Order: sequence, then C-alpha cells, then structure tokens
Amino acid sequence: MTVGLQTRKKESWKIFDEIAKTYDLLNRILSMGIDVYWRHKLLKFLPNRKNIVALDLATGTGDVPLVLVKAPEISKIIGMDLSKGMVNIGKDKIKKRGLDHIVDLRIGDGTDISLPDESVDMVTISFGIRNFSDPKKSLREIKRVLRPGGRLQIMEFSIPSNWFFRKVYFFYFRNLLPFVGNIISGHKDAYTYLNHTVEDFAYGEEFEGWMKEAGFVSTTFKPLTFGIATLYIGDKA
Ligand SMILES: C[S@@+](CC[C@H](N)C(=O)[O-])C[C@H]1O[C@@H](n2cnc3c(N)ncnc32)[C@H](O)[C@@H]1O
Repeated sequence: MTVGLQTRKKESWKIFDEIAKTYDLLNRILSMGIDVYWRHKLLKFLPNRKNIVALDLATGTGDVPLVLVKAPEISKIIGMDLSKGMVNIGKDKIKKRGLDHIVDLRIGDGTDISLPDESVDMVTISFGIRNFSDPKKSLREIKRVLRPGGRLQIMEFSIPSNWFFRKVYFFYFRNLLPFVGNIISGHKDAYTYLNHTVEDFAYGEEFEGWMKEAGFVSTTFKPLTFGIATLYIGDKA
C-alpha cells in the first residue's frame, strides 16, 4: 500500500465528515442504484439463529442497519462509525422511520471495537474496511466480539476478472467517478481518494486469506455484478 494512502486512511473518517451531506445522493447516482441491491444480499446469509444481535461497522449514514431491520430474526442492530457527520445523518434516517428501539448508531472505531468479548451474533461491514488503517486488526477485533458460531459478512469493491468489464471499470473509477463525485460533493479530492482505496485494496482469495489468518472458518466469497463488488462471509468456530 502506498505510504500517502496509508496516512490518509488513519483519518479517512474526516473526509466522510466533509462529504456526509451528499454521500447518499452520490451513492445512488454513481452506482446507478446497484449499491441498494448489493446491501440487500446481506439478508441472504444471516447466521442460523433467532434474536440476532448485529454490529455494523463503518455504518456511515446507516444504510446497512436500514436493510437489516427487514429480517425478523434480527432483534438489535448497533452501528458504529468514526464520522460524526455520517452518524448524525444516519440517526435522523432511523428516527424518521421510528426504528430507534432496534437500531443504535454510535461513534466507534472498527479497529478497536468498544464492545465486550462474545457479545454479538453477526458483524457486517459494507464498503468500509478498505478505509481502515489496519484491516487485519479489525478482523481480529471482530472475531473477539462475535459469539461462537457467529458470522462476519463484508461487502467491498473488487476488480472484475473479465478484461472487458475491467477496462470499463477502470475508466469509470479513474475518470467519471472522481469527476462527478468531487463536483457534487464540493470536496476537492474525496472521490479521487476513494478510487485509490479501491484499486489498492486486497480482494478475492487474498482478502479471504486475511479472514482465515484472523481465525475465521467456512470462509467463502461471492463476486457481485461482474465482480465490481464482492461479498465475503466467514464464521467464528
Ligand atoms: C464508504 S463509507 C461506507 C458507509 C456505509 N457502510 C455504506 O455502505 O454506505 C465508509 C465509512 O467508513 C468510516 N470509517 C473509516 N474509518 C473507520 C474506522 N476506523 N472505524 C469506523 N468507521 C470508519 C467512514 O467514516 C465512512 O462513514
């Protein structure tokens, strides 16, 4: 990983603070709505138990908790993020839908989780872990807070294996996304930074290997939409 990028990742939440107001709108525009479909995939792979307590790290504006509330097996969702700007928008969305009794959004670090050992049944992260300064430490922390038999689901950008889709993907991520993103968000380079984090991050078997290294079992990964995004799943034994 490039040194400049690593330094910026330590404070990446500050960038999200600055783009929080336009984050949801830009997500829908830049992904053409596919991000909503991707997050719904998390519902298909819930751990097989009732009264699930879920933890969503890098929860941002709360879009994952708003999907998870649709599952009757889930009784409580804690969302954590380091950006106050993102969390405040998420809190408003949760309140407007009358979901405060199930969803609790807080400021919290995904690499140093402020929860006791073995206190949750499922951990999710969607498009967040590539922004963490120490993703491997985060995986170890997740394993610590999961109950035995609990499940981790991580959704993250990846790079399509087909040469044609890869070409279109790189053109889009390197040119269109930063151009439109920086203009609409009013930030000079937030979306250029986001593109760099995508290209620089482990994906596929390499990322699955990190999960195994952290002690997760039954790991698997499912490329989505030609491999633009990938859903990684792993269990705590
Ligand atoms: C691309 S957003 C993803 C938000 C949301 N999960 C979604 O699917 O839209 C990445 C989020 O990671 C958060 N973040 C970055 N570093 C973090 C850390 N160490 N702990 C918790 N959140 C962090 C940022 O503040 C930002 O809200």
